[in-house]
Amino acid sequence: MEIVALTEGEKTGAEARHDGARIAHLVGVRGEAPSRGRHVWVGLDDHSLAPGESPELLADVYAAAGTPWVESGYVTHIVVVPAEGPLPARFFALGFGREQVHARAPVRPEAPGDPDGFEIHQAGPADIERVLDVADTISSHQAGAPVWAGLPVSQREELREGWEELLADESTVVLLAERGGESLGYVATYPADEPGLVHLPVAGTRADARGLGIGVGLVEHALHRAHRDGFRTVELDWRSTNLLASRFWPRRGFVVTHLRLRRDVQPPA
Ligand SMILES: CC(C)(COP(=O)(O)OP(=O)(O)OC[C@H]1O[C@@H](n2cnc3c(N)ncnc32)[C@H](O)[C@@H]1OP(=O)(O)O)[C@@H](O)C(=O)NCCC(=O)NCCS
Repeated sequence: MEIVALTEGEKTGAEARHDGARIAHLVGVRGEAPSRGRHVWVGLDDHSLAPGESPELLADVYAAAGTPWVESGYVTHIVVVPAEGPLPARFFALGFGREQVHARAPVRPEAPGDPDGFEIHQAGPADIERVLDVADTISSHQAGAPVWAGLPVSQREELREGWEELLADESTVVLLAERGGESLGYVATYPADEPGLVHLPVAGTRADARGLGIGVGLVEHALHRAHRDGFRTVELDWRSTNLLASRFWPRRGFVVTHLRLRRDVQPPA
């Protein structure tokens, strides 16, 4: 068995070979971003372990892959792994932590009940100001404890262009919860690349209106709308440290499929 350096396009890493055949590999792409500095991203399909091989082997392959990354200052490492199986525990033992949780739930064939004390309607381009009234809920929440996301709270005008595009896109469904013309919460969905799958990128309730059933109402409506539009499954993800999200989504039937793990290596002296 030998472990050798591996390059796949812009990705670099290492592979383990036995009698010339690959038995494990791990590659990642270098990047730079405000919340993670110089990092290497190893996606779900960027690592493998042949049947019967021990996860220990992948730890050795990571050590070989990571050596040039660390030497060149790429000290934050991201690895996406299936939630089931031995890999989360093996990477936790290597100093990784759980940064992002990916989950799926079936759509909702049953029609939701009428909201109590608020209304839900689909937002269009004319609703841009009412969407912007609540669109900073996620970044405001995640700037605080215990997420401390390290990103500035999104400002209204920074969000405008993205939301104008979403509201104009016919495959995106944006639902707004309102009371007396005042926005209380929102949810958005759009089709994912996989057939039958819809992605739910954002949902939020104004901080002073949480715990009143608005989030549940929005999600039930979004999951039922996805059913009516012919989708079978909804996928979404949340910050593991976002206590509101990490308690809310599993209670709505979302089952964890994979985890994004992160390790910040101390830069060499
Ligand atoms: C996650 C979030 C959208 C939930 O919205 P919400 O409007 O507070 O949700 P609800 O009030 O419908 O539900 C919250 C809890 O209150 C309960 N609840 C529902 N109706 C209720 C009512 N009338 N009275 C009291 N509690 C109620 C719900 O059952 C739920 O509890 P459960 O999860 O144990 O079942 C909200 O916490 C939020 O905006 N968080 C910050 C942004 C964020 O993290 N978004 C998700 C990013 S991935």
